[in-house]
Amino acid sequence: MTYREVYEACKINPQHFWMQAAQAIDWDQKPSRALHQYENGLYDWFADGRVNTCWNAVDRHVMNGRGGQTAIIHESPVTNSSCAITYRELRDNVASLAGALAKQGLQKGDRVIIYMPMVPEAIVAMLACTRIGAIHSVVFGGFAANELAVRIDDCQPKAIIAASCGIEPNRIVPYKPLLDSAIDIAKHTVDFCVIFQREHAVAELTENRDVDWNDFQHNVSPANCVPVEGTHPAYILYTSGTTGAPKGVVRPTAGHLVALNWTMKNIYNVDPGDIFWAASDVGWVVGHSYICYAPLIHGNTTIVFEGKPVGTPDASTFWRIIAKYKVASFFTAPTAIRAVKREDPTGKFIRTFDLSSLRALFLAGERADPDTIEWAQNALNLPVIDHWWQTETGYAIAANPLGIEQLPIKIGSPSVAMPGYDVRILNESGYEVNRGELGAIAIKMPLPPGTLPNLWNADQRYRDSYLTTFPGYYETGDAGYMDSDDYLYIMARTDDVINVAGHRLSTGAMEEVLTAHPDVAECAVIGVTDPIKGQIPIGFLCLNARTYRNPKNIVEEVVNSVRQQIGPIAAFKLAVVVERLPKTRSGKILRNTMVKIADGQEFKMPATIDDPNILNEIREALLTIGYGTQ
Ligand code: COA
Ligand code: AMP
Repeated sequence: MTYREVYEACKINPQHFWMQAAQAIDWDQKPSRALHQYENGLYDWFADGRVNTCWNAVDRHVMNGRGGQTAIIHESPVTNSSCAITYRELRDNVASLAGALAKQGLQKGDRVIIYMPMVPEAIVAMLACTRIGAIHSVVFGGFAANELAVRIDDCQPKAIIAASCGIEPNRIVPYKPLLDSAIDIAKHTVDFCVIFQREHAVAELTENRDVDWNDFQHNVSPANCVPVEGTHPAYILYTSGTTGAPKGVVRPTAGHLVALNWTMKNIYNVDPGDIFWAASDVGWVVGHSYICYAPLIHGNTTIVFEGKPVGTPDASTFWRIIAKYKVASFFTAPTAIRAVKREDPTGKFIRTFDLSSLRALFLAGERADPDTIEWAQNALNLPVIDHWWQTETGYAIAANPLGIEQLPIKIGSPSVAMPGYDVRILNESGYEVNRGELGAIAIKMPLPPGTLPNLWNADQRYRDSYLTTFPGYYETGDAGYMDSDDYLYIMARTDDVINVAGHRLSTGAMEEVLTAHPDVAECAVIGVTDPIKGQIPIGFLCLNARTYRNPKNIVEEVVNSVRQQIGPIAAFKLAVVVERLPKTRSGKILRNTMVKIADGQEFKMPATIDDPNILNEIREALLTIGYGTQ
């Protein structure tokens, strides 16, 4: 079948399409139908099925003769080590940890926060939770204690599973002080913490609260897989919204299994047994879907990579690992390729490795700029597939489905909508615009299986964030256009979310930190273009009239506060002090105009601007930190 035929088949009869796809999953109780739609406009997938995620990702492969196949390869240039874990070993490790959690009273529906770096134990912890129906929430290691505390209070976990440290190329990041401080800040009390000790920074355990990973599992009986309803949350993953409070995206169990499994062949074109590598982090959605769940559900070998595209030790790391393990399909963020390209512009490292196993390079997480795609295409001589998705959807909304057919690649476009996604470009009044015209990108409800049914404990926020602006549609928060061949082009966000090195961050959250500084009267944070990270944040501070302190010190303090309160991953290193912020007459800060000035782009003077002279002040301030043009 062609892509068009597959897409139409799903559109005409989604029940049939997804029930067919569901046959690839082992059910404890088969669902009677795929889609259940309710009168209030909401819907569920596979609601009356019963199933277990861990069984499908691990145990069934052992039962079906893949016990000896490598499930996880850990490749860690930052510790100079690597290891492999078979599906049988993975099952035993997961069943043991799950048994220990169950022995401590953890049950279906209880939440567990996982705060771990890129070690296989992070995957073991995720799977152990899903094995007993507990709901995990993985928190990325680059977030500060305060962000961890916010997540503890929102999902109220009974337990936290953490490692003693993470390892960045330039430093060891002890997790225990961050964990302790987060637990202190949080109002919710966790029952216990399980600490995976790493020799690089062994943590001192807190009495009556912390238990060592190995001791915890001593003498426990392995746990069996607990079947859960199709709609049971497999996990909660927090992502940035427009305010400081992150959104807890809920992932429904059955739809997640069915859809992710479908994507492995149809989008990534891999077969069970193939080596699949997504160089991301388990703290992000790409890590959930394509380091942990999808490859394992589909019977692939997945690579857990603890390193960076450059500097660990050099820009050949990706290619060395692909050659070493004969990776069939590789997935990373454009920013990683830009970093590699900067260090190795002629691609000389690429030519020193046998990359014949590799069939395609997939990019996502941010807009893939044409330069980067062309460089990778030329250097690798392979299809470079941009695909577009979000934490909320959990897998690609638009892609080039290599396993169905390879469509022509149009550079600058993540290609076409995947089955189940009815993507429309709407104007402000909610009407579809013409092909080629820019608009808000929305998806007609219902979204396909595996996508978010809700936000954790935030029904109204879910409706307000996604369903209200365009009734009957899911609002993606992205703006772009569709060409006459149905190819999508994702151009910008419509909200205050920025994308720094493939990481989604809220400028609103950073503004909340800046405003809390006693000398700051008003502020704005914008995302400006960065050649490697795509965007980086810059802060503008208006100081209180009675402040006589050196502005330099205040800038230093706010930079430090963002690092302390949001984390190093925000990459907030630049701020300037200005007298006033440019605003419309109604008081709205003209952030887009400020971005254009910083990027040195032409812009139209906003008709509603209160005082055009302020833009010159902004330009002057930006010049002092090397942004914008005279
Ligand atoms: N734990 C603690 N700190 C972390 C961290 C973690 N897991 N990950 C990153 N950080 C820190 C870094 O050490 C750095 O700190 P610094 O300010 O002291 O230098 C800061 O957060 C920013 O990190 P990063 O974005 O990784 O920037 P970088 O300059 O170190 O590296 C790239 C640049 C492009 C190499 C890097 O961003 C990269 O590999 N990006 C790929 C992103 C990706 O895969 N995204 C997945 C989405 S699909
Ligand atoms: P996240 O939820 O962190 O995965 O971020 C999702 C957001 O990243 C999307 O809403 C887009 O703004 C951006 N994004 C992800 N993939 C792409 C892509 N291929 N092209 C353009 N933007 C992308």
